[in-house]
Amino acid sequence: AGRLSRVLQLTLAVIKPDAVAHPLMLEALHQTILDNNFVIVRCKDLVWRRQDSERFYAEHSGRFFYQRLVEFMSSGPMRAYILAREDAIRHWRELMGPTKVFRARYTSPSSIRARFGLTDTRNTTHGSDSVESAQREISFFFPDFCVEEWMEKEEPSFR
Ligand code: PPS
Repeated sequence: AGRLSRVLQLTLAVIKPDAVAHPLMLEALHQTILDNNFVIVRCKDLVWRRQDSERFYAEHSGRFFYQRLVEFMSSGPMRAYILAREDAIRHWRELMGPTKVFRARYTSPSSIRARFGLTDTRNTTHGSDSVESAQREISFFFPDFCVEEWMEKEEPSFR
């Protein structure tokens, strides 16, 4: 295995219902992914039932925003991606900017949330925050996808 095989990383990125509802925003976000040297490994449009949303965000079930987050994320179509890149997790989160839109506008004006975010709920995108959560979230959205198998089969093409 070459050097790249040790740094190539997968992450789960989601374009949330607020952004999918606006074709130009969806297009701009898709282009941002391509412009930043991510390889799109998988991509699909889907709609969550409320129970999918509750299960995905179970760790936040005690938080004040849980109900509105769960409701919003099951309110319409979204687009999920498995993205591959060197340092994919950190890089995608950096592109998104801070969760809170007002903070994003002050600290990272060119970030996705600063440009397109409407509120702390309608904040356009999601990204895994660690290797463990990427693994969990990839299986949540793409149950048939096997990370190990993909690495073995596809990785040589990155060298
Ligand atoms: S924390 O404190 O780091 O665990 O929280 P954070 O990662 O910033 O946020 C966890 C998810 O909750 C969403 N969120 C909110 N939704 C609605 N209203 C408010 N006020 C709010 N604050 C945080 C936030 O967007 C995260 O969801 P994802 O899907 O990961 O973006």
